[in-house]
Amino acid sequence: MASLYAILLGIHNLNRWLVLLSGIWALLQNIPGLGGTRPFTPAERRPVAMFMGTLHLQVVLGLALFAIMGMSNIPVFAGSRPSFQWEHLGLGLLSAVFATVASSQSRKAATDQGKYRAAALWSGLALLSILLAMPWTRSLIPFVR
Ligand code: HEM
Repeated sequence: MASLYAILLGIHNLNRWLVLLSGIWALLQNIPGLGGTRPFTPAERRPVAMFMGTLHLQVVLGLALFAIMGMSNIPVFAGSRPSFQWEHLGLGLLSAVFATVASSQSRKAATDQGKYRAAALWSGLALLSILLAMPWTRSLIPFVR
């Protein structure tokens, strides 16, 4: 169980960079389209879908970590303030919801402008929640303290 914990934690740590990069990429592709007349194309949609996908994977890995740590009596975020684990869980879930809305509304909005607006607004909110949820004091790459 302890080694499964280490493996999942390593993947969760690494995937956080994919989450962050795709979130920044989504904003870079969509903010310039705000207020213009550009068509919304697959190039704008791609990072929004990737942001949602990597975040969903992050949530699944995180929930599995909570379960394994609970079963093995490993303390979650030992050394951090006690509320941090719930802030991490809550803001992590919230960011996945925001990224899902970004993806679905940027597909369903009636106009190209609406698609740009939905992608930029909801991806921005998701990225903000992630920046607040991030345990910045932990290792920046897996297994390196
Ligand atoms: C609902 C969603 C999430 C849950 C349930 C969750 C759960 C967890 C748990 C249980 C840990 C292990 C804490 C420990 O080892 O003491 C952890 C660590 C971590 N989480 Fe999350 N997490 C979620 C979302 C996220 C998101 C969205 C990010 C960033 C994009 C993230 C980044 C990290 C990082 C960087 C660590 C530390 C990794 C390390 O020390 O190697 N998590 N998370």
